[in-house]
Amino acid sequence: MNIAADSLPLRPTPKVRGLPWLGSVLAMARDPAQFFVNCYRQYGPVCRLNVLGNPYVLIAGVEAANFLGTREGKECLRSKEFWEGLVAEYGATRTLTGVDGEAHKQLRDIMRNGYSKESIKGRYQELLAITDRCFTRDWPVGQLVPVVEGMQYMVVDQLGTILTGAAPLEYVKDIRTTILHILNVLVTRQRPKILLKRPKYKKAKARVFELGYQMIEQAKRRYGKVPEAERNLIDDIYAAHKETPEVMPASDLIVSLTGPYVAGLDTVANTTAAIVYTVLKHPEVKARVLKEVDELFAGGDNIDETALMKRIPSLQGAIMETMRLYPIAVAQMRCATKDFVFEGHQIKAGEMIYIGTSVPHFMSEYFPEPMKFDIDRYAKPRAEHMAPGAYSPYGRGPHTCLGKSLAEVQIALSMARVFYKLDLALEPENYTLKTKTAPTPGPAMDFKVRVKGYRH
Ligand code: HEM
Repeated sequence: MNIAADSLPLRPTPKVRGLPWLGSVLAMARDPAQFFVNCYRQYGPVCRLNVLGNPYVLIAGVEAANFLGTREGKECLRSKEFWEGLVAEYGATRTLTGVDGEAHKQLRDIMRNGYSKESIKGRYQELLAITDRCFTRDWPVGQLVPVVEGMQYMVVDQLGTILTGAAPLEYVKDIRTTILHILNVLVTRQRPKILLKRPKYKKAKARVFELGYQMIEQAKRRYGKVPEAERNLIDDIYAAHKETPEVMPASDLIVSLTGPYVAGLDTVANTTAAIVYTVLKHPEVKARVLKEVDELFAGGDNIDETALMKRIPSLQGAIMETMRLYPIAVAQMRCATKDFVFEGHQIKAGEMIYIGTSVPHFMSEYFPEPMKFDIDRYAKPRAEHMAPGAYSPYGRGPHTCLGKSLAEVQIALSMARVFYKLDLALEPENYTLKTKTAPTPGPAMDFKVRVKGYRH
């Protein structure tokens, strides 16, 4: 709760102890989710910390998550500062993630339909066919397959085809290298700027631009010819450029058109890779999931789209539980637009803020036995995720994931298909997941599973 600064005495804000200049960077790099939980437990809902010489405020807990969605939160917080490095790197004027207020609303309106689950309505069978061809290509029987990489190709194949009309698989490595550098150096600032001088990065960025120009050409050819109902995200962005160039200038086309890959690739690939691990690691969960997916596809691939989620409650529980324990967005990053008081602590205009939205994921107050993988937490009457501010895998407030409804279907359908088609095993059987943290927390790139065969 936020109280006017003059009504109550302010509380002194504790400072997290860290190394000179490096500050908390090592602890954050080891396990950011746990680091933020520890800070919350040790220092309370507000503390100050240092990362590579830069000062930050951390606000955490359910109050912080809820604050993002309040009128006050919208007035006091903005995203610009965290994304301006990326915007400059693309030679753009702005990006959806880095604008707030009316300008943000305008961009979200342009992209809402293209990013929503409407974009895959009537196309579940097509998504399944894409997923199947990924198995044939990237998951050979008998082999140990790197899961995150396998998922990255699957996601680009799916998102490319559905959102943009083409699957640019030859660009997957370039997109990944570009995202990795930009997010690490310019957005989350966990790595030094010198890395952007690497020839490897420059080459990859040039290739992403090449992809962007191809997408512009493709959109140009389609403009005015595609019926309203068949327009995809690329068509909508290009139409906005033609019809309201002040909202979508030419300089912003590449960052907007390649946006689905920045937003969707690492997020979905890391999440689905983590789900492969959690399901294989818990045989009782695996048995329930296999039973469900076998029933789901027993009548063929032409499934009832509206009934999908209802038919796979255990898989849904496994997905939600994995997203609780392996959140890809541990905190949201914002800048204070003005002086304000949060939980009795003074925060000054211009201060950089981490909002530890994933902290409640690990709190026994909301999720009893928080480290236990329990897929039944989400069903009524328990519905533990429904406590306000407790569960935020897709973020909170005005920048809440625009692709959420699409991602939910994409993840559910992809995982249903993975477990229906492939007989996978951890190796060794008692393998414990190694994780990475930069730029997106998730399973380590060397996490592999054995493809023992096809189940169907
Ligand atoms: C596991 C899946 C995903 C997770 C957990 C996830 C999570 C998030 C989070 C936490 C944010 C908010 C960031 C912030 O407030 O700073 C966000 C924003 C966004 N996401 Fe996702 N995301 C996922 C998949 C996707 C997919 C598949 C797409 C579309 C292809 C997508 C599109 C977007 C967009 C466009 C935004 C920016 C929204 C805005 O700034 O207004 N996401 N996502």
